[in-house]
Amino acid sequence: MANPSILILAGDGIGPEVMAEVKKIISWYGDKRGLVFDVSEDLVGGAAYDVHGKPLADETMARAQEVDAVLLGAVGGPKYDNLDFSVKPERGLLRLRKEMDLFSNLRPAQCFDALADFSSLKKDVVAGLDIMIVRELTSGVYFGMPRGIFEENGERVGINTQRYTESEIERVARSAFELAKRRGNKVCSMEKANVMESGILWREVVQRVHDEEYPEVELSHMYADNGAMQLVRWPKQFDVIVTDNLFGDILSDCAAMLTGSLGMLPSASLGAPMENGRPKAMYEPVHGSAPDIAGQGKANPIACILSFAMALRYSFDQGDEATRLEKAIEKVLADGVRTADLMGPEGGTPVSTVEMGAKIIEALDASL
Ligand code: IPM
Ligand code: MG
Repeated sequence: MANPSILILAGDGIGPEVMAEVKKIISWYGDKRGLVFDVSEDLVGGAAYDVHGKPLADETMARAQEVDAVLLGAVGGPKYDNLDFSVKPERGLLRLRKEMDLFSNLRPAQCFDALADFSSLKKDVVAGLDIMIVRELTSGVYFGMPRGIFEENGERVGINTQRYTESEIERVARSAFELAKRRGNKVCSMEKANVMESGILWREVVQRVHDEEYPEVELSHMYADNGAMQLVRWPKQFDVIVTDNLFGDILSDCAAMLTGSLGMLPSASLGAPMENGRPKAMYEPVHGSAPDIAGQGKANPIACILSFAMALRYSFDQGDEATRLEKAIEKVLADGVRTADLMGPEGGTPVSTVEMGAKIIEALDASL
């Protein structure tokens, strides 16, 4: 049987630096665990624009559809800020999500014990935190029509449309319930059914999927604004949160910051199963391209490495190996190894991106 295939799209800014460490981890799995992947690489975002005049070439899009998993670094940077909207780096990312139909975006917010002091919240509020936000990723106001900037009565009007079909809500709800069954068995669905019809439908459909298919999972509903407040008040009340594209964008940034460092959080974007049974999938760190520190060897590669751990778990059915990698990272953090973003007020000497990668490989070796 052919080796499982991975397409690496390192992108812009710190993307290539953090991805270089992921590549070493992928090789480690080949050398030490007999898990050999066929790895290919291509361009996305500004890097693709520089070569092709657009943020994702059609050949790259076609390749992404064929592989078992895409690993993406980050896109964007000041150099591209003034580009036309249609060719901005972010459009490359949105095209991948949409054309691969990656409707279920898993964003874990997990607080590593060694880093509980880094949160802007009190330690007891965040220590041990482990929540999973499931964000609908291919519909809603990000893609709804009509959209655009139009002339109306002698002035311009900007329009975006929040739109959800029942089947779009059903499939993301199912993915949240399935996840919850393997975790704390609890789902909280967030929308604004008090002001939006799309929210009313969202609540109804999530409730129906629950009653018909997952009655054993505990389900609650919350208005998204209250959800934001509850996330900072007492985040440990949540297990899985399921929400739409825009609310999910905002709530996941909020949840990410609870854990103290954006440099630590991975994500998985999953679609329908392919012929080989694996879901269409793309994995990426939650952080952006961080142009201010790009090229300086300062970036924290952990979020990107943890994204590969999610690939092991969700695409390659290697949950134990994913856990091995997560434990190796926990060990390195517990030993006090810190990149610059993890430096507390007490200071210390930060390690570089490459040094952090090397420490994680050492911990992997020690796990054998
Ligand atoms: C995210 C980002 C993207 C989004 C941007 C870069 C288009 O904020 O993945 O959360 O809004 O979805
Ligand atoms: Mg975002």
